[in-house]
Amino acid sequence: MPHPKNIVILISGSGSNMAAIVQAAQQQGWQQQFSATVAAVISNRPGATGLQLAQSLGVATQVLDHRAFESREAFDAALMQLIDGHQPALVVLAGFMRILTPGFVSHYAGRLINIHPSLLPAFTGLNTHQRAIAAGCREAGCTVHQVTAELDHGPILAQAAVPVLPDDTAETLAARVLVEEHRLYPQAVRGWLQNQP
Ligand code: GAR
Repeated sequence: MPHPKNIVILISGSGSNMAAIVQAAQQQGWQQQFSATVAAVISNRPGATGLQLAQSLGVATQVLDHRAFESREAFDAALMQLIDGHQPALVVLAGFMRILTPGFVSHYAGRLINIHPSLLPAFTGLNTHQRAIAAGCREAGCTVHQVTAELDHGPILAQAAVPVLPDDTAETLAARVLVEEHRLYPQAVRGWLQNQP
């Protein structure tokens, strides 16, 4: 029996990317194929609606409220302890809206990935869709990348592009990109699992 590969997914909000990954794992049989399981979904926001979504998909959830901690370092240390309780092979950031400390990032080096709603290296940070429209971009999209100490940098694993239409608002563009996120992120996680020994 190969070593089990636990996946821990971190969320802050609606968790639609998390759900896409959990559903792909269940429907494609990642347990049988890769010995991979989504072991837990952890949110830094107690009110994140993605928590119920995870539970409805049969995944255990945990909450670690960042507001209970005095510093970013203290929160990240507690988060690492929670995550490490699952002995994860891979930690997946899925709309986890926290800047991570260098200590956290180096602890999970090579097994920490993120999805960002732009065609990186363009538009790191927030309000990516509004900024793509304002810049006159003809294309927008999303990027799955390995997480390194610099925000929204790190080796690119996968990208998907969509057109920016003349009457797009940030909301309509975000919705078009999100459809691609739900296709791309499970595929990138699957690709990562396939490349593991
Ligand atoms: C997604 O669009 C994701 O790319 C973005 O937040 C949304 C989360 O949606 N992430 C970032 O902006 C990270 N900087 P979800 O909770 O429904 O997956």
